[in-house]
Order: sequence, then structure tokens, then C-alpha cells
Amino acid sequence: MPADVKMRLAPPKDLHVIEDPRTGLQGVIAISSTALGPATGGCRFWRYPSQTELAADAARLAHGMSYKNALAGLPLGGGKAVLQLPDQPFDRKALFRAFGDAVDRLGGAYVAAEDVGTSVADMQCVRERTSYVAGLTARPGMAGGDPSPWTALGVFLSMQQAARSVLGCELSDTTVAIQGLGSVGRRLARLLYSARARLVVADSACARAQEVADELGASLVAPEDIAGVAADIFAPCALGGAINERSVDQLKVRIVCGAANNQLASAKDGDDLAQRGIAYMPDYLVNAGGIINVSAEYLGESTEHVENRVAGIPRRLEEVLRLAAKTGRPTHVVADELAEAILSGAKVA
Ligand code: NAI
Repeated sequence: MPADVKMRLAPPKDLHVIEDPRTGLQGVIAISSTALGPATGGCRFWRYPSQTELAADAARLAHGMSYKNALAGLPLGGGKAVLQLPDQPFDRKALFRAFGDAVDRLGGAYVAAEDVGTSVADMQCVRERTSYVAGLTARPGMAGGDPSPWTALGVFLSMQQAARSVLGCELSDTTVAIQGLGSVGRRLARLLYSARARLVVADSACARAQEVADELGASLVAPEDIAGVAADIFAPCALGGAINERSVDQLKVRIVCGAANNQLASAKDGDDLAQRGIAYMPDYLVNAGGIINVSAEYLGESTEHVENRVAGIPRRLEEVLRLAAKTGRPTHVVADELAEAILSGAKVA
């Protein structure tokens, strides 16, 4: 993690180390804020070079969840679980049941859901041991299930807003370069295709990229070239840090708007984007559709609640763009300040 990102972040309120040698479970649950409700955020299952890096990522992601939940108007705090993907064979169900025990021991301070590397099936195992989990199979008419379609919809609506506010046009007049065609990126590509945007796509899984290109008539480029494609919008939908020292100079777009968490490798990269006249749509604002669905499921709400809240994402984005234009400050700074104001109970203008 770059030094200036570290400095920007408050340390997590609580960092719970979890270990179960019997199942190979090893990781942390980071709680960043419970000011607005139980700390809620997905469980990431990934391979990290060290426990220190794993814990740092959990803290950073939990902090992002606090901001995301606050800006989305949810009655939830911010938290995240990060689990080390074992390098030995392991029993996946047993590992996630043990994780469920760890979540349960926190007595509702943290509510789990899916994230990169985990699925609805994993959360069903967690549910066997605790009720503090969402992202389970949905009942008819009720919120629940895979959050990815809602994340993709929120990003799509944000892109539509960004095109109107920044470029003064509709998505049908734009070319969008998408990095990463997984659960969210692929759905986003389909929504953009329906809106008649031109698409350029890349994924490090070549077969997946080819499949999407064939399905949607998109141009295909190598993963290392996608950030430098001449387009209107760049949509990072893979892992974090897509906007970094190197890619900031490569970008040939007017807007960055995508699903990935922690797109800015450092705050300076956000400043540099703004300096270059590239409008950044803050990641935790535009990708809140998934957590909105998780929250509604946890609170026993219907899909109608989810639709209404996801429709609020572009309105909040418009507010951020307006404030940024009025004050001459970068969008990532304005969004952070709005989120901090909500967290501290201040009235938001
Ligand atoms: P996923 O794991 O289904 O898809 C990620 C895709 O990115 C994969 O197809 C992978 O091959 C590709 N990829 C990885 N590195 C790449 C690279 N350097 N260049 C090109 N492609 C690359 O993940 P998912 O669920 O689609 O999430 C994507 C991003 O959105 C992640 O950062 C995630 O944290 C974030 N996000 C996802 C939410 C959800 O509802 N699934 C909610 C909010 C954020």
C-alpha cells in the first residue's frame, strides 16, 4: 500500500485475527466504523504474500466500506473480512463454517457477505453457524442473492450520469473501455451494449474476454493495453489500483467510472487525474449497488427498496460532480468529505 494511502486512513476501530488450524482458516475481520450500524462488508478470499499485507488490505477495504455505506444512505457501518487462500488442499465448506463461528463470536458487530473469491454457496455455509450474514439465496420478491447485477446496474447508471454531466451526451455516443469481465464487468458490458455504446474489452482470462467480445461485438485488446485505449470512458472492473502512477499518464479518456474497489492506488493519483482533466467517479459511490442489495436482504426488505436506492446512486454522483465543479476540488476529495460528514452526523448540504 503506498505511504500516502496509509496516512489518509484512520486505523480500524477493531482488527480481529481469526485462525482455525483444523480447517486452514486464517485471516482478519476489520471493523472500521459502527457509527451508523453494524459493520458490514464482504469477505474476500485471496492469496496474500504476508499476514501484514492481508491485514492492511482488510483495514483499507473496511474503511472504504464505511464511506460506501454512508454515501449510499444505509444504516450500516464499515467492515471487511479478508481470508488467506490456503496453498494446501482444504475443505471449503468446513473453512467457511469455521469463519461463520468467528463472525458469530463478534455478536453482530460485523455482518458478512460475498466479495472477490467468495460466492453465495460460501455464505450459505457461513449461515449454518451465524445469522450475521447476507448474500444468500433470495426468496421471491425479496432482496438477496448475488449482488453483482445490482453493482453493475449502479455503475451503468453512474456512467450515464457522468456522460451527461461531463460530456453532455448519452452513452450511445460514447466508447467505453472495460478492464475485467467477471461477475460485474460482463454484466456492465451487456447493459452498455443495450444502450448502444461502443465497447473495447480486456480480461486476463483470454477465453472469457473472447466470449464477451463475440457476444457483444466488442473490440478486444490485451489486458496490458486497456488503460491506454482511446475512448470516452475507462471502466476498471478487475482488482484495485487500476489508476496508478503509470496508468494515469496512459489514459486517453475523459471519464473513469468502474466497479473495482480502491481504484486509486494513492490519493495523489486522484489529484493527477483531475489535473489531466479526467473526471473520476468515486469507486465506493458508484459501486454501492451490491451492498445496497446485501443491506436490504439483511433488513428483510423487498427488491423494490433495492431499485429505489440504486436509482439514488447517480443523484448522489451528480451532487459530488456539482460540488467538485463549484469548489474546484477533485471528486475523490469531495466524496470523502461528504462521507465523513455523514459519519460524524453533520448535516450534508
Ligand atoms: P470477478 O472476480 O468476478 O471478476 C474480476 C475479473 O477481472 C476476472 O474476470 C479476472 O480475470 C479479471 N482480471 C483480473 N486482473 C485483471 C487485469 N489486470 N486485467 C484485466 N482483467 C483482469 O470480480 P467481480 O465480482 O466482477 O468484481 C470486480 C471488481 O468490482 C472487484 O474489484 C470487486 O471488489 C468490485 N466490486 C464487486 C462487487 C460485486 O457485487 N461483485 C461489489 C462492489 C465492488
